[in-house]
This record gives sequence, C-alpha cells and structure tokens, in this order.
Amino acid sequence: MRGQENPFVFGEIIDDTNFVDRTEELNSLVRDLADGQKIFLLSPRRFGKSSLVAVALLKLKKRHIHTVNLTVSSYSSYAQFLEKFAEKVLRAAGPWDRVKDWITRFGKQVKPDINYNLSTGEVNVSLGKGAGFDPAPIAPDVFALPGELSKKAEIRMAICLDEFQQISQFNGGSVENVIRNQVQEQREVGYVFAGSQPSLMQEMLSAKRPFHKAGPQMFLDKISAEAWTEFIRGQFRRRGRTIDAEALTKLLTTADLIPYDVQRIAHELWDYAELGDKRALTADDVNTVINKLVSAQSTYYELLWEQLSPRQRATLQALAYRGAAELYSQTVREEFRLGPASSVQKALQSLDSQDILDRYRGEYFFLDPLLPAWIRAKTA
Ligand SMILES: Nc1ncnc2c1ncn2[C@@H]1O[C@H](COP(=O)(O)OP(=O)(O)OP(=O)(O)O)[C@@H](O)[C@H]1O
Ligand SMILES: [Mg+2]
Repeated sequence: MRGQENPFVFGEIIDDTNFVDRTEELNSLVRDLADGQKIFLLSPRRFGKSSLVAVALLKLKKRHIHTVNLTVSSYSSYAQFLEKFAEKVLRAAGPWDRVKDWITRFGKQVKPDINYNLSTGEVNVSLGKGAGFDPAPIAPDVFALPGELSKKAEIRMAICLDEFQQISQFNGGSVENVIRNQVQEQREVGYVFAGSQPSLMQEMLSAKRPFHKAGPQMFLDKISAEAWTEFIRGQFRRRGRTIDAEALTKLLTTADLIPYDVQRIAHELWDYAELGDKRALTADDVNTVINKLVSAQSTYYELLWEQLSPRQRATLQALAYRGAAELYSQTVREEFRLGPASSVQKALQSLDSQDILDRYRGEYFFLDPLLPAWIRAKTA
C-alpha cells in the first residue's frame, strides 16, 4: 500500500471524486444554468468557486449542454479576452457541420478583423493586431456569439466567466454594458459570473451599474466542520490511520474552515503520517505540521510585516489574539494600543485593500489563516 496518492488536493480545481459537500449549491447552480439563468457567484478567495463551477459544468456536459469556461484574469487585454471568448465558444458549439456556415457569416460580418481556420477542426480567432487596435466596435458581435450559435445549431450552452471582477480593467464600464446587453437576449444560454472580491463584485451589481438585477446572486459559504471531519477521517481510515477529535478541531480551527487551507494542512499531515508511519494522529502531530507550514512561509510573512504601518501591525495582532468580534471594544483597543475606533476602521480597510484581510458575514478575517499563527508565534 506504500506510496498511495495523497487524497488532499489544494491549489487545483477539485474534481467530482474528491468534492466535499456543496450538494445544494451544486444542484441549484446546475438547475439555474440549464434554465439559461445568469448567476453571480461570490465568495472570498479560495472558498471553492472555481471547483464548484467545474463540477457543475461537468454535470451539464453529461446532459448534452455545451460548456465554456474562461478565467477573465488570464488575459492581458480586452482584445485577447474577446479572441479567447470567441474561440472557446466556437469550439464548444461544434460539431462543425452544423455551425460552419454560420461561422463563415460571422467572419464576414466582423471582417477584416477575424481569421479562423477550420481545416483542422481548430478555431483560431484573431481580431486585429497592434497595441492601438480597438476591439470595442466588434465586442457586441463577439458576445452575441453564444446566443446565435445556440439558435443555429439548436444546442444549449452554459458559460462561466471566472474572476469576473477583473472585467472592468479592460474597458471600464463599457464592457459591462456590452456584456449585459448581449447576455440578456440569450434565453437559452446560462451564465455564471464568479468573483473573488465580493466587495468589487457587489459594487458591480449595485444600482446604476449595468449588471444591477441582472440575475440571482449566490454567496458561497465555507464548508461545514462536520463535512470536513467526515471527509478527512474517511481518507485516513482508508489508509488504516485514525485522527482524534482534538486533532481535527485543531486542524479545522487553524484553517479557519477555509477550504484551501483545510486541504493544505490535511495534505501535509498525510505526508507526515506516511513518512513516520503514524497510525494514530493527535493534536501534537497537527501542531508539528502547522509549525512546519508556518515556518516555511516566515520569510514571506517577515517581508509583508515590514511593509505595514505600526497601527496596521497592532490591528493584526489584536485580530490574531482576540478575533474580530471584540476588535472595537475599549479593552482590546487599550490592550493593543489601537487608538480610537476610527483608526482601527482605517487600518482594517487598508489591510482589506492589500488582500491581507477580507470580510465574511460582516466580520474581518485573515485571508491566509496561517498568518495569525505566525503573528502569535512571533510575539509569544
Ligand atoms: N468542494 C470542495 N471539496 C474539497 N475541497 C475543496 C472544495 N472546494 C474548494 N476546495 C479546496 O479549496 C481550494 C480552492 O478552491 P477553488 O480554486 O475552487 O476556490 P476559488 O474560490 O475559485 O478560489 P480563488 O478565488 O482563489 O479563485 C481547492 O484547491 C481545494 O483544495
Ligand atoms: Mg477560482
């Protein structure tokens, strides 16, 4: 049994087999996308949006819905994003004999800026070259593609635009307008717009912005401790190992139930158990593993720390020791010399904009839950 693959995966999109929980979210996402709805999926970083969408698209594919998945932040310009959008949509809309004529027409329509190559079944879209090239005039045609193709080929489509909050970097408000206008015409195409910066996404969905009331919002929660416990226990059990309740609590609280970090610590614990052939894992073992992870990051944390103002450091210390609920209390402000509540507020906002903190259910939390562990170790 040696060398069995580590079942705890982080930093990658989780597939069907190791997907924990989220049954309801998955069902409703699949249903809504199949219905051609436009859904906004919001959560802080690393909560599992991309994984949820990937599994949902897989299920839709099995129902013969043609799927497209694009990460907006992967592209360096509006033109490149439009090219890849067109390419992926055209590819997904196959088989060719059904859409070929229409693609030729699309090519003529936006001429001379589009080239495609159907000889190999591959589509390559080029919308014009040069830094000065302005793709805005042809954007409506590109975003209309899914709707047109669905009609012509009599197919249904589901499209994910991941890291959607980045879209405004391309062309300010106008790109939002164009997408909104095209997308609302497409009854038979489901869209999920996923975003990692809830505050930016919410701004985008606010009144006076094009996406206001464009579709339902879905806030992705953390995965429950119960679901994680069952998953982690089960994986270790299959390998003939046990993990006690205290160890599990330590793991889950240190990870702050953030899916990425739960998997990361569990992954490290698995390797540690394999290496030492530990049959029964305890809180001491979890502590060893966490300390190892924290010290591996310490150079990075030091650099980060040096760049912060004294007030920001004090605020992080207070948060690391006392948690978010008491941050504004007089006792905590005095203990950590935080100054007036308004300064705490300012420090928190700045730490939020630096992606060190974010908000979940109205309270600030560390995006990297190992950072407070490092802060505590440092001042201990
Ligand atoms: N349902 C799940 N079951 C098990 N692990 C999960 C699940 N969802 C997320 N994870 C863990 O969290 C990690 C991050 O997930 P994912 O990349 O899907 O999140 P995200 O919200 O898209 O993050 P980002 O905002 O950084 O793009 C995964 O690599 C995996 O380790
Ligand atoms: Mg993601």
